[in-house]
Amino acid sequence: MASPSIALWVAIAGAVALLSAYTMGAFSSKNHMPVDGKTVLITGASEGMGRSAARQLAAKGANVVIVSRNVSRLEESLAEIKAAARNPQTQRFHYISADVSKPDYARSLIAEAIAWNNNQALDIVWCVAGKSTPDFWVEAPLSLTRDQMDINFWGSAEMAHAIIREWCAPPAPVLPEPKHLIFTSSVLAFYPIVGYGPYSPAKAALRALADTLVQELEMYPQKVKIHVVYPGSIQSPGFDRENKTKPKITQILEEGDPVQSPDAVAASAINGLEKGQYFITVAFLGHVLRWSALGGSPRNNWFVDTIMCWILQFAWMFALPDMFGKIRKFAKENGHPVNYRKKGNNE
Ligand SMILES: *[C@@H]1O[C@H](CO)[C@@H](O)[C@H](O)[C@H]1NC(C)=O
Ligand SMILES: *[C@@H]1O[C@H](CO)[C@@H](O)[C@H](O)[C@H]1NC(C)=O
Repeated sequence: MASPSIALWVAIAGAVALLSAYTMGAFSSKNHMPVDGKTVLITGASEGMGRSAARQLAAKGANVVIVSRNVSRLEESLAEIKAAARNPQTQRFHYISADVSKPDYARSLIAEAIAWNNNQALDIVWCVAGKSTPDFWVEAPLSLTRDQMDINFWGSAEMAHAIIREWCAPPAPVLPEPKHLIFTSSVLAFYPIVGYGPYSPAKAALRALADTLVQELEMYPQKVKIHVVYPGSIQSPGFDRENKTKPKITQILEEGDPVQSPDAVAASAINGLEKGQYFITVAFLGHVLRWSALGGSPRNNWFVDTIMCWILQFAWMFALPDMFGKIRKFAKENGHPVNYRKKGNNE
């Protein structure tokens, strides 16, 4: 989401060859997440990236359960997903209407999905449901942050808690193939920028939860793989809603941030899942921000990640002064934030 300074791009130019080899999959060809004949549950699948992911997984042979609130949109999405099926005679599709921001929504949802799935366990659960309403954190009411925490963090945390208890309960079978739990975070979890204060903390909390779960899951006999997808801007109905409240300074800082289509983001995310990646970034700026903030999170590739993490620490010497310079200049021109917020945020 952050606009990279020219210097940042220059600093990483030397490593592009390495990156190309990496993104072209020169290091691995095994599919770590085959979905043919598997059952996948996706939340937030009635529009945007979730809907694209559901359709693409159907095209790879998955049975798909989609979840969102709006029944008419679910029906419309399900028809589109069904039409993409690889084996229309054998694949099965279902929708469940649920509000992921409500406490304790997940257990009954999972029970319903398992019952529909002939009492077979789900194989893959992908939490995509989320929303962003940008604003200044101080000037906006705190309830805006709570709301976004409810859907973006708690929506995924409730699901994780319920499905891992299901998959890893003592009587649950120990199978050679892993189950997959996928969170959808945001590049803002790596580098938050002003204007996303009510949103970024929830996405960063998902990262911390995932880093904890990869450790905790080592203690169970059943195999569960955790993945986190970190999209940037996606051209979707959610993005148009978000744009309505986005402060001008946020738009300035995001200038040059490529906006991707939902199909492209979903395809890139699925590609990362098939490569067995843990943190999955779906565009060049996302890769850069992941390396710039990897810390102690598990690596996708020790060699590439180590080199790129080093390089990116130097890039911050140029990127940070550039970002802060833009914010100070904006503040000088616009005065106290309370004033330009009254003008309707986008002025
Ligand atoms: C549900 O989706 C339909 C179709 O997009 C839309 O017209 C309707 O307003 C939505 N309902 C709610 C409650 O959001
Ligand atoms: C977002 O809104 C601003 C006006 O506030 C407009 O200039 C810009 O083009 C919009 N961006 C998108 C991607 O719709």
